Amino acid sequence: MKHPPTKTLQGLLLNVERALPLASDILLRGHLKQLRLFLGPAFNAFIMQAGKGVDSSRSNVTHEVQFDWLYLRNDPVMRRLYEAANTSQWNAESDIDWSLVFDPMDSIVPIIPDSYCPGVVLPEWQHFSAREKAEHRQSLLSFMLSQILHGEQGALFGAAQIMQGMPGMAGKLLGASQVADEARHVDVFHRYLSEKLGKSYEINENLFVLVQAIMSDSRWDVKFLGMQIMIEGFGLGAFTMIRNIVTEPTLKQILKLVISDEARHVNFGVTALERFYREELSEGERREREDLAFEISLLLQRRFLAHEIHQEYWTHRFNTRQWEAFVMDSQLMSMFRSSMFRLIIPNLKRIGLLSDRIKPSYEKLGVLHFENAPVICQMSADEILAPVS
Ligand SMILES: [Fe+2]
Ligand SMILES: [Fe+2]
Repeated sequence: MKHPPTKTLQGLLLNVERALPLASDILLRGHLKQLRLFLGPAFNAFIMQAGKGVDSSRSNVTHEVQFDWLYLRNDPVMRRLYEAANTSQWNAESDIDWSLVFDPMDSIVPIIPDSYCPGVVLPEWQHFSAREKAEHRQSLLSFMLSQILHGEQGALFGAAQIMQGMPGMAGKLLGASQVADEARHVDVFHRYLSEKLGKSYEINENLFVLVQAIMSDSRWDVKFLGMQIMIEGFGLGAFTMIRNIVTEPTLKQILKLVISDEARHVNFGVTALERFYREELSEGERREREDLAFEISLLLQRRFLAHEIHQEYWTHRFNTRQWEAFVMDSQLMSMFRSSMFRLIIPNLKRIGLLSDRIKPSYEKLGVLHFENAPVICQMSADEILAPVS
């Protein structure tokens, strides 16, 4: 569904209203440096609707490129990850069975359980026909996978930038293999959405703000933090949650392959940033990254408030603020919160961005108890894929 055009006063005011919570919340928390980072992208995404109704968007980026003339591969973890990357390459065409036929509108074997559609608890749901319920399920899954696809494009660009900017050949080689992985992810999710689900959504504004802000920040470690630890970590959480609720075998197959790549990418991010943040940053610089990670957490969580589903089906029932409060309390959001933060919080702790100063902020979100959960590099594939209650 298209948003109101920015050129009308009504459209402009609505877009300003959608942007305000982001800016005012960051201001209230006193995170001025983060506000500066997000302000330009937020103007583009929310007010100008830069990612909507267009075939492509452009952004100017500047970052430092770092050559390495020693070519050493002396980091054992990165070397192991690089070897694993090379031996676990898969082919989007031949390793996935695209021939399986299914109907996303099937009411006998629903593509996801009704219980994940936020509207299921409303009295109106009982009056929906089987077809209407199927449309809600198809829309929700298409919305989630579309945002995953757009995030994958961000990861593709981010991986290329990080590979150029980070120090050391061990990381650059691993980063290059990640570029190939992300290209495959873009390819498979787009194919699944267009060939199998038959419906897709434009990029969510919160995700667009984040991707643009990370792309245009010149510091390699900030790109790494935003992309590898936060977006990839949240992505991994979202993949595992979706894999546990979908019934369709092709999508399950895709997600299993993607999850094994993403676990390696997050591991790469943790390995690269752990030493850098502990040894190379001043306390002020470390604090800035800590605040930034928290703001990114909130943006990533807002991405799943599903404003697009509100615009499509529920504007007669809720205004924007009421919808946000409603979705925040839904089963969908509670599952997302658990799946995502259980993978993010231990990683933030490991890289030194979970000090006593920031813990109360995560406590308020109800996710601090994950601080002692295992970090990705200590988890088996089965543990990563395990359902989270
Ligand atoms: Fe990816
Ligand atoms: Fe990735």
